[in-house]
Amino acid sequence: MNNKLLAIIFVLATGFGLVARADEGMWLPVLLNQKNITAMQNMGLKLTPEQIYSVNQACLKDAIVALDHGGCTGSIISANGLLITNHHCGFEAIAGQSTVEHDYLTDGFWAMRQEEELPIPGKTVSFLILMKDVTSEVLSGIEDESDKSSRAERVERVIDSLKKVYEEVSGYEISIESMLHGNSYYMFEYQTFNDVRLVGAPPSGVGKFGGETDNWMWPRHTGDFCLLRVYSGADGKPAEKSDLNIPLNPKYFLPVSLEGVKEGDFSMIMGYPGSTDRYLTSYGIEHKLEVLNPTDILLKTAKMEILKKYMNQSDALRLAYASDYAYLANFQKKSIQESKALKRLKVYDDKKQLEDSFQEWVSMSLDRADKYGSVLNDMEEVYKERTADKADKAQTYLEETLMGVKILLWAYQTNELLSSLEDGNDLTEQLAHFRKQAAEFYREFNQDADKEIMCRMFKLYRENLPDQYYPDLFVKISKKFDNSDEKFADALYRKSIFASAEAFEAFLNKPTAKKLSGDPAFEAANSFLASYILAMVTQMGYQEKFDEASRLFVAGLMEQDTNRNFYPDANSTLRLTYGQVKAYDPADAVEYMYRTTSKGILEKDDPQNREFAVPEKLKILLKAGDFGKYGENGILPVCFLTTHDITGGNSGSPVINGRGELIAVAFDGNSEAMSSDIKYDVNLQRTICVDIRYVLFIVDKYAGAGYLLDELKFAGK
Ligand code: ARG
Repeated sequence: MNNKLLAIIFVLATGFGLVARADEGMWLPVLLNQKNITAMQNMGLKLTPEQIYSVNQACLKDAIVALDHGGCTGSIISANGLLITNHHCGFEAIAGQSTVEHDYLTDGFWAMRQEEELPIPGKTVSFLILMKDVTSEVLSGIEDESDKSSRAERVERVIDSLKKVYEEVSGYEISIESMLHGNSYYMFEYQTFNDVRLVGAPPSGVGKFGGETDNWMWPRHTGDFCLLRVYSGADGKPAEKSDLNIPLNPKYFLPVSLEGVKEGDFSMIMGYPGSTDRYLTSYGIEHKLEVLNPTDILLKTAKMEILKKYMNQSDALRLAYASDYAYLANFQKKSIQESKALKRLKVYDDKKQLEDSFQEWVSMSLDRADKYGSVLNDMEEVYKERTADKADKAQTYLEETLMGVKILLWAYQTNELLSSLEDGNDLTEQLAHFRKQAAEFYREFNQDADKEIMCRMFKLYRENLPDQYYPDLFVKISKKFDNSDEKFADALYRKSIFASAEAFEAFLNKPTAKKLSGDPAFEAANSFLASYILAMVTQMGYQEKFDEASRLFVAGLMEQDTNRNFYPDANSTLRLTYGQVKAYDPADAVEYMYRTTSKGILEKDDPQNREFAVPEKLKILLKAGDFGKYGENGILPVCFLTTHDITGGNSGSPVINGRGELIAVAFDGNSEAMSSDIKYDVNLQRTICVDIRYVLFIVDKYAGAGYLLDELKFAGK
């Protein structure tokens, strides 16, 4: 065969590189078609589709749960509701339970008996009962010609009424989600449990080993896991927290394999990826690189600098702000690396090429031109408007100010209380709610840190936004406080009922509408809220045009390329991604291996550096080399890489082998492929997983909580 012919065949076979490669794709389990299944079986899957997803028999999907309605993923690993997820998914809870005397974050926590398990306020665990394509129900419901409202409004109305019907019929929580940018719709039935308790968490020197320095990086040596337990009422159904509740008896739980992995092995992940933008246009990439990411990086970096300073002052402050800081650091680094990778991997050029080929295909028929002719243009125009009016930039500033300055967010939340006060409603419930919340809030609040963040945010806000988004508050600051944010902030924290636990308690004991509405923090929050509404309304002016263009663009792409297996963008619904254990080469002259071992933990050890200080006991164990059944030829595997297609929300997802057994827990992605929310790169994108053998070594030998292992079901036993 000559080269030209080969090239043509290659292009046809790969559909200009658009065919989903084996590893790319976040598949809805019900949509795994013959193409996927055959590919999976060829790669090493031994299960039938029904063993993965079925509504008639217990299957893998019954062991996969969404934490906090999709913030993270977990999996059930015992008949007593034991659940494994990431340390960073339990981080807020672990930090929240920590005090300077009982610093579970630094030292770890292990319940040695069931009674010692710690209830986690607010934590929820949701099981998917079933999912179903309801596209025809949604779309046929919007075809009322006499209806003059917009398509989006009609869709929303139909979804609302369908939800009610399904809720009534099933008795479960229902959500209906748009897929492929409004080209299809799926209904999901969930059952949510909210008595969830902490069973075990390793010390930060294991669970967050490498800290922010190693976050998003390979080679990695983090034991990023923690163990929770789900409790149900005596009848096995969800129940409010109570001592009478019993450990959940799940429909299914994952067996564990100690066999380990080698390069090339098949594996898959099921979990709840939060959001991707795989159909983003070149205009969208430009906007991200020029507006969204720089804004996000600037604001998060500013806050991090301030928090770091305070966290270094005392253990109490370090614990108070640990979770906020980890959040900021994680997403700041993600934005930095995303911009870098987008540029380095020339994703803009790829998108441009795709759009050119789309436009050419469109122009080949009048029908198509009629339907899709203006789609790309429409999107380009919207981006131009967004760049010009800076509404989305203002939105980011407002979110970071309103939600990032703690006293403002706290004050904002009392708006409903004001209405009740004004209407003379019974306040018992609301006051109880705020008393409870206050206990948590003030534990993680420091006036000086918050004041400094407020002043920095106000300053950046003035410097970088046009004055149509300035809140009225700025006029007041200039008139009454010599235009000094510091003077204003000093007065605010001196006078506000929100400034301290004592002041707030005093207010709750004698709440009046006058006091609340005249409070400087309350006024400031609502003044920003007004600007926020302006920014949102401005964007609503073109959101519909944009959504419609996106829907048609994706519809057109599907029509243009019928060979490509399309998968919907992540939207916190259950997905499956399959691939293999695999190394990668991140740069010229650099080759990474597919796994790390405990040797690397000792190499990285640095007692002077909190991020890399290995706990003494772990050092002794690792040096002794007594790895037992968790080792492999005298080494202890720690983390490994796979080609899975995941994103935030997948954190804590089980990594499952071809026989359906748990081999690891997914916890991170690699910085070199941080453009992955927009484009999957087969050569570079990797999921970083913690080997279940390292997890169990820590539980058993480090924590001495080996009794938990009796609950597990080991493969082949
Ligand atoms: N990069 C991980 C993710 O987004 C989170 C890691 C949290 N750890 C941290 N050091 N901030 O899933």
